Amino acid sequence: MRSNKALSKLNWCTECQEEVSIQFTLYLYSSALGVTQPTLHHLRMNDSDDSHSGVVVTIENAISTIRFNRIEKKNAITREMYLAMATALSEGDQNDSVRVHLFLGGYGVFSAGNDLGDFIGHDLTGAGLGNEVLSFLRALVTAEKSIVAAVDGPAIGIGTTLLMHCDYVLATPRSYFQTPFVDLGLVPEAGSSLVAPRLFGPQRAFSLLAMGQRWGAEEAMNAGLVNKIVDEQNIQSATLEVVAILAQKPQQALSTTRRLLRGDTAEILSRIEEEAGHFSRHLASEEAQAAISVFMNRG
Ligand code: COA
Repeated sequence: MRSNKALSKLNWCTECQEEVSIQFTLYLYSSALGVTQPTLHHLRMNDSDDSHSGVVVTIENAISTIRFNRIEKKNAITREMYLAMATALSEGDQNDSVRVHLFLGGYGVFSAGNDLGDFIGHDLTGAGLGNEVLSFLRALVTAEKSIVAAVDGPAIGIGTTLLMHCDYVLATPRSYFQTPFVDLGLVPEAGSSLVAPRLFGPQRAFSLLAMGQRWGAEEAMNAGLVNKIVDEQNIQSATLEVVAILAQKPQQALSTTRRLLRGDTAEILSRIEEEAGHFSRHLASEEAQAAISVFMNRG
């Protein structure tokens, strides 16, 4: 068994689960060209291992990969990470060589959501979600290029709500999805109060966003949050197949189609702002501060 510390610097190899990185784009490229595909097993990713920022961004060939890399904190997202992701989405959109944005977590954990430490101990007056979060959400909602995500393990809070803005989501059977906003004395974010009822219907949206019910991979797929469930051994190759298909499509037509399917961007952005106002107010409440402190001060 590997330690979390070791995992924090590494990607996961689904074939042997050893401490290696996978060069997704090499696989994609060969796949797109129809040449012999290199095995995914033990291919090295030549990105810089920028583990201290908590997010590793790789732009190579056609994919901008945004990989959570703070495994020792279950990929809880800090402000620095939001900023890195906002920048990656904007730069990926502007880079002509990029055709797809790809979100990845780590082996056995996608993301534990917002770093709860950022929600306590600050002067919270008006701070709310913070500008970094809002920048990330704006970049996510206005992205021109397709967004794919591969989930393995828990996707909590914004780890789930960000998926509502992705175009194709793959998940392993052990993945689960949960948004314990209300239990933390908080309210939904990321435009989820608008997008989730459209995606799942109001009742199922309520069970997820208000009741905090945990959805397994199957339930998430039935609800429409997940496109495909693939076991841990095959999630990477399945993800690369999806990315390769998208990368080969006529990009302008794909981008316009994505925008049409997503609906009115201005409406979603406006809901994000509205939610952020409520979030700020609730975050400063005693009930929220007490609930968040309980988690942060666990023995
Ligand atoms: N913010 C800050 N730190 C977090 C975190 C979060 N959202 N989620 C996990 N961590 C930290 C833990 O405090 C712990 O740190 P420590 O080792 O310094 O004590 C470390 O990550 C490992 O977490 P742990 O809870 O021990 O792992 P687990 O495998 O038992 O459980 C989760 C994983 C994701 C189910 C659990 O950590 C969890 O429920 N996290 C909170 C999720 C949440 O409420 N997010 C906010 C939504 S708005």
